[in-house]
Amino acid sequence: MKIAVLAETASDETRVAASPASVKAFVGKGLDIVIQAGAGNGSFFSDDDYKSAGATIAKTATAAAKGADIVLSVRRPAATAVKAMKKGAVVAAQLDPFGDRKDIDGLAKAGLTAFSMELIPRITRAQSMDVLSSQANLAGYKAVVDAAEQFSRAFPMMMTAAGTVPPAKVFVMGAGVAGLQAIATARRLGAVVSATDVRAAAGEQVASLGAKFVFVEGMKDSSTEGGYAKELSDEDKKKQAELVANHIKGQDVVITTALIPGRPAPELVSKAMVETMASGSIIVDMAVERGGNCPLSKAGKVVSHKGVTIMGYTNLPGRLSGNASSLYAKNLQNFIDLMISEDSKLAIDWEDEIITGCALTHDGKVIHPIFNK
Ligand code: NAI
Repeated sequence: MKIAVLAETASDETRVAASPASVKAFVGKGLDIVIQAGAGNGSFFSDDDYKSAGATIAKTATAAAKGADIVLSVRRPAATAVKAMKKGAVVAAQLDPFGDRKDIDGLAKAGLTAFSMELIPRITRAQSMDVLSSQANLAGYKAVVDAAEQFSRAFPMMMTAAGTVPPAKVFVMGAGVAGLQAIATARRLGAVVSATDVRAAAGEQVASLGAKFVFVEGMKDSSTEGGYAKELSDEDKKKQAELVANHIKGQDVVITTALIPGRPAPELVSKAMVETMASGSIIVDMAVERGGNCPLSKAGKVVSHKGVTIMGYTNLPGRLSGNASSLYAKNLQNFIDLMISEDSKLAIDWEDEIITGCALTHDGKVIHPIFNK
């Protein structure tokens, strides 16, 4: 059994799909691991680190992917790598299932069994494979650190002989995995933190982190059975916008994390709201890659609007590549373990809800229900 690990081709991608630790674990199970040369550079894992863990190094993506039974990457593998893969090979990566459909069809046409790690069901047994959580948690931390670095004032209150430095006021919009870590990080830095969500259940979690929950009085909870957010009704959208408009005026830092699976990110901070914020305030739009929670944010850019800095960094977990790669590699390792038999053979259990929950293509077809709605 050969597992290949590709180097990423996207210019802002610093992560890698295997760590020396995950390589060691696979090798311990009797598997051959081939790493594309330089794949770990952005995460400071050298080819020698991988070799010491028991991997061999292939010069190119084609050489790595050729003959592999399983191919691992962070994002959709490039067409050249797909071309080199053998029919029936497994691909596991963050395939961006709601993005451009063409590459997904390409994976099906190549006869690959492709798994999209973003679709791993959020059930207890799959928690150790949940890439959305492992990466969003790091991103939530990094968003606050980025804001603190850019902010012209301090986060904690300081009482000095020259006067008191007031604590920064941080407002986190969307209290999922990223938002909760943003709240915790801002609290650790000494800020006064408030947060909002459309899921009423988030209120308790926000309060347990020492932040104030801002929720529209009497608004219906807007969550699905799976615990995700639903789009609000027009009336609730209006009520929420009024509440946010009032609250945001007095905030120094706003971190927006709101996402709705399969839909563009909801607009939460309008241009008019930004213009009520004091000069020097900061907005970090963590949803920028999915259209943004603020119409002024620009993907990959830090922009300024009437004195308010709007940070639109893409790939926040990639800005913590060391941790992000280690956790992602461990998620993949746990997932791949599901399909390796005791005698180190590929054995996919098509009755397992984790497998069916994230399988996009198999036997030449696109099979996931999200494509058949
Ligand atoms: P996400 O990344 O899809 O969205 C981020 C947050 O934005 C969510 O809390 C969502 O409710 C919120 N949001 C959406 N529209 C909004 C709006 N208009 N205004 C304000 N907030 C809005 O969510 P994430 O972080 O993936 O978590 C979703 C749920 O899944 C949470 O309940 C989380 O606790 C749960 N979860 C369960 C896991 C499990 O294994 N059982 C693992 C990880 C998360």
